[in-house]
Amino acid sequence: MVGAALRAPDHGGLLPWRVIEFPVETRTDLAELFAAEKLRRDPIASEEDVQRAREHATHAPAVLAFVVRPQRHPLVPIPEQWLSAGAALGSILSAAHLLGFGAIVLSGERCQDEPLRAALGVASDEILAGFISIGSIAKAPPPAVRPPRDRVWSSWIGASVISH
Ligand SMILES: Cc1cc2nc3c(=O)[nH]c(=O)nc-3n(C[C@H](O)[C@H](O)[C@H](O)COP(=O)(O)O)c2cc1C
Repeated sequence: MVGAALRAPDHGGLLPWRVIEFPVETRTDLAELFAAEKLRRDPIASEEDVQRAREHATHAPAVLAFVVRPQRHPLVPIPEQWLSAGAALGSILSAAHLLGFGAIVLSGERCQDEPLRAALGVASDEILAGFISIGSIAKAPPPAVRPPRDRVWSSWIGASVISH
């Protein structure tokens, strides 16, 4: 899956992203970090909510953090680097789906939490974009509804733009 992401379009080959894997033996520690972050954000959170935060770390067979690291570059503007990182993230998810797994990326306010970021080794010039959970599909979700194509599609004909 990361191999697929490494084929994302990447102007200048800057690799403006990286992935942190959380091996199974580290998940209890990650769960406690998630629980502590939840309580920092909401000191009166219910035990059920704190447990849900823990389960985000322990539930899926594979958990990755996706980190974006834009770099100053004379020829590659920062927005292009974000597009490259997004393409890489999309490739990880698409590869997981094509291999028959379920995969989802979730961010949430925890991604801005400084103690959590520090504990995961995310540097101050990096963005913790989200956590990717990957596993076998226990219960298939309802079929995805795709927005109509004309939300994103138009044809340019000379000086006028005509929607389809
Ligand atoms: C970087 C990133 C962070 C996301 N964070 C959240 C999130 O915190 N909560 C959420 O409900 N969806 C979040 N999403 C959207 C979900 O990943 C997902 O697209 C959505 O739940 C719809 O599911 P589907 O893409 O399988 O149809 C995020 C998407 C991206 C790209």
